[in-house]
Amino acid sequence: MRGWVDDFGPFEGRVWLNTAHQGALPRVAAAAAEEAVAWKRQPWHLTTERFSGVPQRLRVGLARLIGARPEDIILANSASYGLHLIANGYRWQRGDEALTMRGDFPSDILPFLGLAERGVVVTQLRPAGRVLTAAEIEAAISPSTRLLCLTWVHSLSGFTIDLEAIGRLCRARGVIFVVNASQAIGARALAVDDAPIDALVSVGFKWLCGPYGTGFCWMRASFRDSLICPHTYWLSMLTSDDLARDELDLTLREDAGARRWDVFGTANFFNFHAWGACLDYLDGAGLGPIVAHDTALVDRFVAGLDRECYELLSPEAGPARSTLIFFAPRDRRYLDACHQALQAAGVHVAKRAGALRLSPHLYNTADDIDRALELLAQASSKTPSTSTAAPKGSDAAPTAKRA
Ligand SMILES: Cc1ncc(COP(=O)(O)O)c(C=O)c1O
Repeated sequence: MRGWVDDFGPFEGRVWLNTAHQGALPRVAAAAAEEAVAWKRQPWHLTTERFSGVPQRLRVGLARLIGARPEDIILANSASYGLHLIANGYRWQRGDEALTMRGDFPSDILPFLGLAERGVVVTQLRPAGRVLTAAEIEAAISPSTRLLCLTWVHSLSGFTIDLEAIGRLCRARGVIFVVNASQAIGARALAVDDAPIDALVSVGFKWLCGPYGTGFCWMRASFRDSLICPHTYWLSMLTSDDLARDELDLTLREDAGARRWDVFGTANFFNFHAWGACLDYLDGAGLGPIVAHDTALVDRFVAGLDRECYELLSPEAGPARSTLIFFAPRDRRYLDACHQALQAAGVHVAKRAGALRLSPHLYNTADDIDRALELLAQASSKTPSTSTAAPKGSDAAPTAKRA
């Protein structure tokens, strides 16, 4: 079970189990970044073809990944970019409500909080468990509710929401459903055309292994057309060759589609040329084999974690489980010591929300998981074992509280 480790790194003996923070860049993408640097050192390589070819390759790769049309992909530098387009472009009326989840990743909440001065009510629903259920959302939807924004895989617990059930509910109640897929795209399959969602945003630098400062947004064309577009970027309407003409007669092009919404600087060669190479590389590896590989790594860790000493906080199995594993020593006083023990041995996991988060991807191997388990076993032998487990959150309570 070597996965694709030789296509990454060098890791120099370290184990990177923190994809939920940053995915490692494949070697082919590092080579593409170097190529982009070489173009800039000899600027005659920055041709008109490359100005349009680099973003086009990305659009095609991203569309392939989510079963969309390239002309519906908006290029971005983050997940926040798309969320701001939606929050600021929606035609809100005073008293309209946007629903978010209390404790969700901040990118999903902050763009909406600024709407309060336009009379929009932004509600952060508190889930009874770790993420909101369709039943909780159903109980919270009111006649004023216009939009719901949630993360598909919750960065701070590893729980996956029930996208289908929540999406179907939103459709039935006429609520726009916006999904942040930053912790999912690249690690699970999705066909947006068939999914009951209106918009999807994602970063490119986690499970898609791209450089930091990459992301995208997809909106169903009918939803996109209903929004106010905040800007008109010249490169979405023209090419630099157009500037050679005697005179420019500027009009808004109706056929620009999603390109009109792109982040400025779409021929961002250093990042986007490298990210394009990542997407082609991941496509070559195949999403199916990658998902199977990641799942086997999660299985291995979950099966090997000593439950006498550690509590598994993310789901053991089932549809709510993701590639983000959360766990903690039963005696939480030893959390930092465990983290440091892993870190000191060159095994990188994150500390998030009072727990440790381990998130393996295609460049990890079974040996990486075994190494982490071995270090955790050693760390636990240095901590007094305790039978008093921290109280577990309940998944069962039916309604969420408004906060
Ligand atoms: C769900 C989620 N959304 C967004 C981000 C990053 O946000 P942005 O690209 O908006 O900075 C992260 C993590 O960094 C995340 O986990």
